[in-house]
Amino acid sequence: MKVPFFTSRYQDQRYGSSIREKIDKVIKSGNFILGDELLQFEKRVEEFTGAKHAIGVASGSDALILSLQCLDIPKGKEVITTPFSFFASTSCIVKNGLKPVFVEVDENTYNINPDLIPEKINDNTEAILSVDLFSQPANYDKISKIANDYNLKIIEDSAEAFGMKWGDTNAGLCGDIGIYSFYPTKTLGAFGDGGMVITNNDDYAEKIRILRVHGAKKKYNHRYIGINSRLDALQASILSIKLNFIKKEIKEREEIYNQYVKNLENIKEIEFPKIYKKASPVWYVLNVKCKYRDKLREFLKEKGIDTNIYYPKAMHLQECFIELGYKKGDFPIAEKLCNSLLALPVFIGMSSEMIEYVCNCIKQFYKNHNKM
Ligand SMILES: Cc1ncc(COP(=O)(O)O)c(C=O)c1O
Repeated sequence: MKVPFFTSRYQDQRYGSSIREKIDKVIKSGNFILGDELLQFEKRVEEFTGAKHAIGVASGSDALILSLQCLDIPKGKEVITTPFSFFASTSCIVKNGLKPVFVEVDENTYNINPDLIPEKINDNTEAILSVDLFSQPANYDKISKIANDYNLKIIEDSAEAFGMKWGDTNAGLCGDIGIYSFYPTKTLGAFGDGGMVITNNDDYAEKIRILRVHGAKKKYNHRYIGINSRLDALQASILSIKLNFIKKEIKEREEIYNQYVKNLENIKEIEFPKIYKKASPVWYVLNVKCKYRDKLREFLKEKGIDTNIYYPKAMHLQECFIELGYKKGDFPIAEKLCNSLLALPVFIGMSSEMIEYVCNCIKQFYKNHNKM
């Protein structure tokens, strides 16, 4: 049996024809940039998340860069973040002329450890860029309190967190400004790049809308130095259709996760992430801590099963951030996770037989390994 890490094949079988019809309509309309399709999709995301404002941009990475630019933090100031995330969570800070200050992660959730944030705060600290990763939001009870106590802004990188919640609050709205990525593999994925900024703050929303058109409120009159970054009409129309199925698909992801847990919970070499009581997770990816990770991955590959590693190298050890002055050993938990987390396949349409097969192969690997 072959089990891919991700495929959109089953979604295409289910509702690809509606998407093709919609694409045809957009092509016939001739409106590809901004316009009604985007407005309607933004409105639908506002309704879905409860956000006052949703602003479509070209990618999650752009959404992060523009969100930080929008906050107007003076150059050289510090932004606290996790060293264990996708590159864009840190690069957006540097691209805005700011200094990332890393805080170690929690070994059970793999997200930033909020208890360690206060010791990194000083007179130069202006914001916390928290990342909602590994199926759940970061701990916003603690992060919000710290931000409040020290008068810091929160930028929420909820690129992977569409549909997740902290209490009653949708991921993306737990801080001052939040973002989504619509990269094709995401829970709500486009057929190309796409992203969004969401916020309840009217001023930030207005500024982001201006920044995404080269900083011009009125055409050819540039108030800010922005960039060209819009979610295009074709992607917005595709995402609108996919949004109709999102609740059902989130449930389907949960069923896949439940089947993995049922099959693997007694395997002592495998550990599932601990979920905060207040979090409503979405199983966008299922990262498990596992023993002999690389050998297991190789074994699964031989059995026709694709897996992935998020993330193989922490941010404080990236060559381009060398000037920040960090070194190996500075964040031992993050570094250890780089060598022990394995992302198992989770995709819409994944059959029970496939999950069973993956689990059986994992069991077989540990059985063989323990015999050696
Ligand atoms: C945590 C995180 N932040 C930011 C991004 C950037 O999003 P995009 O790929 O849409 O630019 C991603 C994308 O994978 C992500 O996982």
